[in-house]
Amino acid sequence: MKKIGMFLASMTGNTEAIGNEIKKQLYEFQVDIYLMEYIDCEADFMLEDYEILLFGAYTWGDGILPFEAEKTYELLSKYDLTGKIVGVFGSGDFAYPNYCVVVDMFEERARQQNGKLVLPSIRMELGPDSEGKLQIIKDFTNSIKEMYQWSLQK
Ligand SMILES: Cc1cc2nc3c(=O)[nH]c(=O)nc-3n(C[C@H](O)[C@H](O)[C@H](O)COP(=O)(O)O)c2cc1C
Repeated sequence: MKKIGMFLASMTGNTEAIGNEIKKQLYEFQVDIYLMEYIDCEADFMLEDYEILLFGAYTWGDGILPFEAEKTYELLSKYDLTGKIVGVFGSGDFAYPNYCVVVDMFEERARQQNGKLVLPSIRMELGPDSEGKLQIIKDFTNSIKEMYQWSLQK
């Protein structure tokens, strides 16, 4: 089975930049990681393929899901995530009252479907443009690695 599938929606590039940073950090630990845009994902077999699922999405229109992520998000409600490690990340803007709520939505869905969440999820204002933000990503990827190693020992 492939190790990590990362699904991504990014309109102006911030969520993509976070995803690329996650990918870079995970590469250093020699983990196979496959990055896909939601829009290119047709079917549930793509979710089946991976041990670790990472969902990245920006928040849009005052708290709604990017349209391109809708299908995958719906699909998740029919999918048993037992045994899967699930990480969620996204970009938003403090100027909006519903800050990064799409991250909350994916978190909630992963919980409902019994996934093991990587916590805390990443809710980032705009892009990874400071040391502090890069550290948040580093902590996230370290958690993924720890959870994965722990799951192998079981
Ligand atoms: C019309 C519009 C609506 C937005 N609504 C929200 C929102 O409800 N909550 C939020 O946190 N950010 C909101 N944003 C900000 C974007 O999520 C933010 O710019 C983000 O960095 C975009 O990510 P991307 O570069 O990956 O596309 C909105 C932006 C626009 C242009």
